[in-house]
Formats: sequence, structure tokens, C-alpha cells
Amino acid sequence: MSSGNPKLISFISALALGIITVLALFAVDHVPGSFSTIDNYIIVSLAVFVVSFVIILIIIEVFIYKKIKKIDEILNMHRLESDGIEARNGGDLLTNIVKEVEIRAKKRIDEIEKLNKLEVYRREFLGNVSHELKTPIFNIQGYITTLLDGGLEDPTINKDYLQRAERNVERMIMIVEDLNAITQLETGELVLEKERFDIIQLIGEVFDSQELKAKDKKIVFGLLNDQNKPIFVNADKFRIRQVLTNLIVNSVTYGKEDGKTNIKVSDAGKFVHIEVSDNGIGIAPQHLPRLFERFYRVDKSRSREQGGTGLGLAIVKHIIEAHDQKINVLSTEGSGSKFAFMLEKDEF
Ligand SMILES: Nc1ncnc2c1ncn2[C@@H]1O[C@H](COP(=O)(O)OP(=O)(O)OP(=O)(O)O)[C@@H](O)[C@H]1O
Ligand SMILES: [Mg+2]
Repeated sequence: MSSGNPKLISFISALALGIITVLALFAVDHVPGSFSTIDNYIIVSLAVFVVSFVIILIIIEVFIYKKIKKIDEILNMHRLESDGIEARNGGDLLTNIVKEVEIRAKKRIDEIEKLNKLEVYRREFLGNVSHELKTPIFNIQGYITTLLDGGLEDPTINKDYLQRAERNVERMIMIVEDLNAITQLETGELVLEKERFDIIQLIGEVFDSQELKAKDKKIVFGLLNDQNKPIFVNADKFRIRQVLTNLIVNSVTYGKEDGKTNIKVSDAGKFVHIEVSDNGIGIAPQHLPRLFERFYRVDKSRSREQGGTGLGLAIVKHIIEAHDQKINVLSTEGSGSKFAFMLEKDEF
């Protein structure tokens, strides 16, 4: 039965009432003194049928069907493309509306769950940002207050405190720059500028730039290139330099004295496989799933002491993903870590 057709509903209901009337008359017929004839049967049940048909039709049209049509109009007017519901033509109106409302309700529930998760993430993120900025701001305030309270005239601290304040300003700038880079990567504002370059040469340049830091810890850099010749890739050189710098700095920061950092570059068909490994302090397995989240640090105090904000690996992940690749980590607490990713080869 077509549940959305008011005429059909009225017809069936009126017919039912007509039949009930006939049956009622038939019952009355058996009562002594009744005066029913066959004509009475036909006239009365026809009258009941017609009158009830009209009344039911009016009730359904005015009170129910018009409102259902209004709901349908509203659904049609506010159909989101993302819901994937095509404009309807034909079919049973009520069944169609039920189906569409079901699809929309499911989509809205999914969206609300996603928004709730984002809200938690946003709150956590804001908390982290204010916490990270608060430390250097209070430090600067402390140094300035001491200097204003007479420290400026004290040659044993005046220059030292100004230098400390400057280091805190530098830290704040670093945090803001990292946040800016992440925001740009996340909003897609930052378009990759891919070019052909020699990844072996870039690794050498990054090693050179971090040599002093490594020397302080007596860490040795090593490069393993299975091709023994330049390897050209198609990627954003500036961003890949950032990736390599972050990974190499981490390998030194969380490396042990007299340790080593190795980068292995190997051929993987259309891609180049790059692996940065160290024999440092390593990472316990429970930290690995959250390692690439913004501000996540295994040992907060230790990392902050080293000047870390916990944004480095989040930036690395974004850059590698912008290149349509994934970054993987393998680590054993106490014996070292290995970070690996691929880049598209550019052979010509
Ligand atoms: N090679 C590594 N060995 C051991 N732990 C590591 C290594 N690399 C990263 N980690 C851990 O992962 C955390 C997150 O690293 P990430 O580079 O994102 O932040 P960070 O080094 O603390 O700060 P920054 O934003 O300055 O890089 C670090 O705090 C550290 O605990
Ligand atoms: Mg880091």
C-alpha cells in the first residue's frame, strides 16, 4: 500500500466503514421488529462510504498530508551536498522522508561526535600554548623586575639577566614560529614547492649545521648511501631540510654521550627510503602512539630543559604527510630510536 497517498487511505478507510455499516444493518435485521430492506442496505452503506471518504480525505489532507509535504519541502530546501542524498523524483513520499531523515540523523550524530573530539583537542591545545608561553613570560618579568629594582647598577648580574631575558624571548619566538608553521600546514595554506634536488647533499648540509651540537655530546654522524652516488628526489627542499633538522636535533638531544646518529638512504623503486637512527635513550612503547601530537613529550621536564616545545615531530609528520607519505618510528627504551619515511625519486 502506498502510505503517502491520502486518497487511497481515505478510500480504504471509507470502504471499511461502509462494510461495517452493512454488517451492522445485517445484525439489526435479526432484531425482532426491524424494518431493513436490501435498498436500505445499499443506500445507508453508500452514504456512510461517501461521507466518511470525504471527511477522512479532508482530515488527512488538511491535518496530516499538508504538514508532511511541508516537511518534504524543508528537507529539499536544506539538503547538504555532503550528505550524499540525491533530489528525489517519484516513489512513496513517507518512505522517502523516513529514509532521508535516517541518513541525516546518522550524519549529524557523526558530526557532533567529531566536533566534540575537536573541542577537547582545542581546549587541550590552548592550555598547552598558554602553559608554554607562560614560563618564558614569567622568567622575563622576573629578570626585568630585578633589574628595575636596582639590579641594573649591579655589574655582576645586569648583563647576565639581560642575556637570560633574551634567551626567553628567543624561546617564545621559537614557539610562535613553530605554531605558525603547524597552522599553515594544517590549514593547507602552505603549498609545497617541489623541486629536484640531491637528498644526499642535503643530509650533508644538515649534518654540518648540527656538528657543534653533536660535538658537545661526542656524537658522531654517519651516512649510508647504498647507491654511492647523488640521489635525486622530487620534494620541497626547504621543508625536507626542516624534517631532517628536527630528526637529527632530536637524535642528538635524546642521544647518549659518545653515541652515533646514522642516516641510511636506500632505493625503493619509485621512492627513496630515508632512515634516521640513533643509539640514544629510546622511547617506551606506551609513548609511541602519541609521539607526533603537538606538545607531546615523553619526559616533559627533561625536554623543556633542552629547550624543546614538543612541536618538532608534529611539524615533521605534517610535512611528510603533505608529501603523501608516512613517517614511522621504531624505538626501544634504553637502546635507541629509528624514524623512517619515503620520498618520491626524480631520476631525470
Ligand atoms: N630520537 C629520540 N630519542 C628519544 N626520544 C625522542 C627522540 N625524538 C623524540 N623523542 C621524544 O619525543 C618527544 C617529542 O619530540 P619533538 O621533537 O616533537 O619535541 P621536543 O624535541 O621536545 O621539542 P621541539 O619542538 O623543540 O622539537 C620529545 O620530547 C622526546 O621525549
Ligand atoms: Mg625535537
